[in-house]
Amino acid sequence: MQNSTEILHKEIAPGQDTWNRLILSYWQANAVGLAVKLRLADLLSGGPLPVDELAARTDTHEYALYRLMRALESTGLFREIAPRVFAQTAMSEFLRSDVPGSQASSMLHYLGKGNGPYDAWTELEFTVRTGKNALEKIYGCDFWEFLRRNTHANDAMNGAMRSLSNVMTPAVATAYDWGRFPVIADIGGGVGSQIVAILDNFPTTTGILFDQSHVLANAIGHERLTVVDGNFFESVPQNADAYLLRFVLHDWSDKEAMTILRSVRQSMKPSASLILGEFIIPDGPGPDFSKWTDLQMMLLCRDARERTVRELEALLAETGFRLEEVVKTGGPVTLVVAQSDGLHPAETAVTAIPQWSAQAKG
Ligand SMILES: C[S@@+](CC[C@H](N)C(=O)[O-])C[C@H]1O[C@@H](n2cnc3c(N)ncnc32)[C@H](O)[C@@H]1O
Repeated sequence: MQNSTEILHKEIAPGQDTWNRLILSYWQANAVGLAVKLRLADLLSGGPLPVDELAARTDTHEYALYRLMRALESTGLFREIAPRVFAQTAMSEFLRSDVPGSQASSMLHYLGKGNGPYDAWTELEFTVRTGKNALEKIYGCDFWEFLRRNTHANDAMNGAMRSLSNVMTPAVATAYDWGRFPVIADIGGGVGSQIVAILDNFPTTTGILFDQSHVLANAIGHERLTVVDGNFFESVPQNADAYLLRFVLHDWSDKEAMTILRSVRQSMKPSASLILGEFIIPDGPGPDFSKWTDLQMMLLCRDARERTVRELEALLAETGFRLEEVVKTGGPVTLVVAQSDGLHPAETAVTAIPQWSAQAKG
């Protein structure tokens, strides 16, 4: 005879499907990461191929590869058109590296072994127990140093940013009247997807793309864009009317984020605007993508984090800015617009330069 607690538990218990979905999401993520690493979608772009041919071209074990393909087929990636012969599907087409809207770099960056994020998740327990960066445990350096040392990972990261940008960038470009600024500096702007989309939408605006030289080597060209390399912990270009920092502060601790903000504040003219683009963590419980990107940041970069509007407002106030406006875009990015508080920049002097930056100078 069951007691009422047992009956209640049975009624509200999630079905086995719920638990299976969690397990499957982990397995499938692993399989997709490897499929992209092996460039299976690229190999099938010329037409169907038998598994023995795919195995020869990918230097893999034929039967093991067949089992991988069969499992991927069950998710809609690839199709077995004859026994052990596989073809591309509409979905796997987007895992090709050379098509518009390709997700290959993104999958490689997040799910491919050896590129940073995938490896970092294997050390989630270490990070949760110690509060320390998982990547540093695995590779002995932070994410940025890891990318500098590892061209493949750097390419995958830049490609992933471009893929994410395909969704978020147009939303940011159209959610705000960027045309009010004659010159916009995109600080830590990566390869320039965002600033180029803004310039395309606002023909009287010119742009400055500021980032590290190894990133700017792949910068997208634009006739109204000047490319400047440097270190935002030290200084940023002067004389822009707006300074955009999209997904920059979330890479850093509060102390480092404030150093970047102070560096921008010292370079900019008092009338210029500062515009942060971030995944904002909403106040209170409930599902939100930013709560997961926050974990990703925690694993990859020392003290990196997503923040609430209130947390960003506090950093801004500490570094000589006044929050003016919060603008939601049609995508997951929120814009936080601030102005200088009018005090002299010397009153917000740079106080912290991160360790790697200080070492690099020495
Ligand atoms: C997460 S990415 C964001 C890129 C771009 N803003 C976007 O939204 O796609 C952070 C950027 O900060 C740049 N960065 C990191 N450290 C830097 C430094 N010390 N000086 C200048 N840029 C830096 C990285 O190279 C990278 O492009």
